[in-house]
Amino acid sequence: MTTDMQGKVVLVTGATGGIGKETARSLARAGATVILSGRDAGRLDAAVADVRTGATGSVEGLSMDLASLQSVRAGARELLERWDRLDVLINNAGVILSGRQLSPDGYELTLATNHLGHFLLTNLLLDRLKASAPSRVVNVSSTAHRGARSMGFDDLQSERSYSAMGAYNRSKLANILFTRELARRLEGSGVSAFAVHPGVVRTGWGKGGDTRGGLNLILALALPIQISPKMGAAASVYAATQPGLEAHNGAFFQRMVFGNFGPVHQVQPSALGRDDAGATHLWELSEEMVSARH
Ligand SMILES: NC(=O)c1ccc[n+]([C@@H]2O[C@H](COP(=O)([O-])OP(=O)(O)OC[C@H]3O[C@@H](n4cnc5c(N)ncnc54)[C@H](OP(=O)(O)O)[C@@H]3O)[C@@H](O)[C@H]2O)c1
Repeated sequence: MTTDMQGKVVLVTGATGGIGKETARSLARAGATVILSGRDAGRLDAAVADVRTGATGSVEGLSMDLASLQSVRAGARELLERWDRLDVLINNAGVILSGRQLSPDGYELTLATNHLGHFLLTNLLLDRLKASAPSRVVNVSSTAHRGARSMGFDDLQSERSYSAMGAYNRSKLANILFTRELARRLEGSGVSAFAVHPGVVRTGWGKGGDTRGGLNLILALALPIQISPKMGAAASVYAATQPGLEAHNGAFFQRMVFGNFGPVHQVQPSALGRDDAGATHLWELSEEMVSARH
């Protein structure tokens, strides 16, 4: 049973499908005003119409391409104009890509979408979150962050070597480090930051031509253990709504049994995910990257 969210305003990025759409649906049914963001107008309109069915709170759409810093700036500006509060920001949009691609700003596309866009968005919305305190930022990471052998600071754009899983794992480690540094910087502000792993979930992730070859085979083998997007939304909904989590600022949550089943609980991120110096370094590099492109 989700906590009553009446009067709360929530933004969910990447809400056109998968875990994001089910997260939005659950929060809209709990009475929140839910803003779904998406990069494709047609898919966004369809998702808004779908989530409105059964919602007790209002459901609205906000166009935003997380891979484009200009689009993130425009989206944040629009949100600040249209809504006077923001209680929860759920940074959910994410991709995995077999081939190395560049964002409109020239950054490696996995890092740009999964981390940099959300880094900028969060910073642009921080004053509104503070003014709406107690408020929360939820970063949808993954247990895949454990697969990263380093944050790859010497090759953040994967110019020297690229693999889909390598870039994805590092982007999910970036989500964990971002959460850690954000929580530290927000201490005492009334805004809390959390990261979650949703489980292994049957969604559009890695589909639609994003991945190919051996990786597609591995993803196909994972099919029998995948849970529904609704079940996959549980950790995000918990981090967004569970009363009393403020005492656990910076925590990482997932479901108890293999990350897929059972109640949501707090787990330790990997050792690299607990590296405070790495978290600060990533924050500083991210600031440089987002301010280098206007
Ligand atoms: N599925 C899993 O097993 C799993 C496991 C661990 C973590 N996660 C994480 O869960 C999150 C949600 O993924 P999912 O599994 O629900 O996958 P999904 O069904 O592919 O949903 C991803 C969402 O992100 C959006 N998106 C992608 N690139 C975007 C961009 N540049 N700008 C704006 N939106 C963009 C997609 O929009 P479009 O409709 O425009 O493509 C879609 O709404 C991701 O962060 C993923 O890393 C997933």
